Amino acid sequence: MSDKHIDKLSGVETTGHEWDGIRELNNPLPRWWLWTFYGCIVFALGYTVVFPAWPMLSSATTGLLGYSSRADLDADLAAAKLAQGDRLEAVASTPVADILKDDGLARFARAGGQSLYKVYCSQCHGTGATGSAGYPNLNDDEWVWGGTIEQIYATITHGARSPTDADTHYNVMPNFGADGILGAEDIDRVAKQVASFSGIEGGAASPEGQQLFADNCASCHGDGGGGLVDAGGPSLNDQIWLYGGTLEAIRAQINQPRHGVMPAWGARLGDTAVKQLAVYVHGLGGGQ
Ligand code: HEC
Ligand code: HEC
Repeated sequence: MSDKHIDKLSGVETTGHEWDGIRELNNPLPRWWLWTFYGCIVFALGYTVVFPAWPMLSSATTGLLGYSSRADLDADLAAAKLAQGDRLEAVASTPVADILKDDGLARFARAGGQSLYKVYCSQCHGTGATGSAGYPNLNDDEWVWGGTIEQIYATITHGARSPTDADTHYNVMPNFGADGILGAEDIDRVAKQVASFSGIEGGAASPEGQQLFADNCASCHGDGGGGLVDAGGPSLNDQIWLYGGTLEAIRAQINQPRHGVMPAWGARLGDTAVKQLAVYVHGLGGGQ
């Protein structure tokens, strides 16, 4: 095999390898190729010196530049936090109603409020804030406790019937049935009266029902059932119901009322978070 000889046609020495009569010419590598090859070796060695490369027992060589992707990320996060910190401080020091006047700040607050909402509020009010039985819809423009930004802010801060907050919204509908304030007949009459406000099946207006409502209900629910925000008495003359819009549900509420509890969030989440939540909820569509 190792019979190197000079190829007759090209005058180049062969390598001595031969495959089925085909011999390989021993041409030198092109110079450009060779230098690129050496260059790559030098670059690779240099790279392992400058950047983290060689595995060691517990970690790896750190490299002369001290670069690490984690440090990079930390720096990015710190920068982001710093930028956010300025905005959060602005939210903290701006009265909640004034946040709405500053488009950029309002947008920032709304975005923060949206993520807080998902964590703390969606269990009860729903991911789309559409509510469910006993938990009010926060998208519509009916508000038990008021729909201005300040009112929403106060509701979120102090809650409703919260056992932990002395300033919580508080009003409790009397136990007309269980406490014997009204007899079964009167309860039926006033329930039908209420049902008649919004055309619910089985509803019937009557002079007695009208009188019963004025005497027993209007102080919290307003004349004609229009609702009274200051008393937290929801309106009873529209299609929006906390506990169901049937004659049966209305009768049940008069007999033995339920009292929704909305937790107080001010002490738990802090004022800045509550402001962001208020801006978010206000912006859902029903804000006044
Ligand atoms: C444990 C369940 C629960 C959680 C969690 C909860 N809420 Fe509520 N929320 C309620 C209930 C119940 C009411 C209705 C209170 C009432 O009947 O007066 C309410 C009422 C409200 C109202 C007043 C609605 C109106 O019509 O006036 C707002 C605003 C509100 N919640 C916002 C929030 C926000 C923001 C969060 C998250 C930080 C939150 N809620 C978390 C149960 C909850
Ligand atoms: C002291 C105030 C007060 C009085 C008086 C009162 N209510 Fe209420 N009522 C409330 C409050 C507060 C709620 C809301 C309960 C809640 O948020 O959980 C309510 C809720 C209701 C609801 C349920 C509304 C819904 O959206 O599902 C009905 C129906 C109702 N009241 C009817 C009456 C009738 C009829 C009378 C008179 C016989 C009456 N109420 C008297 C305070 C009152």
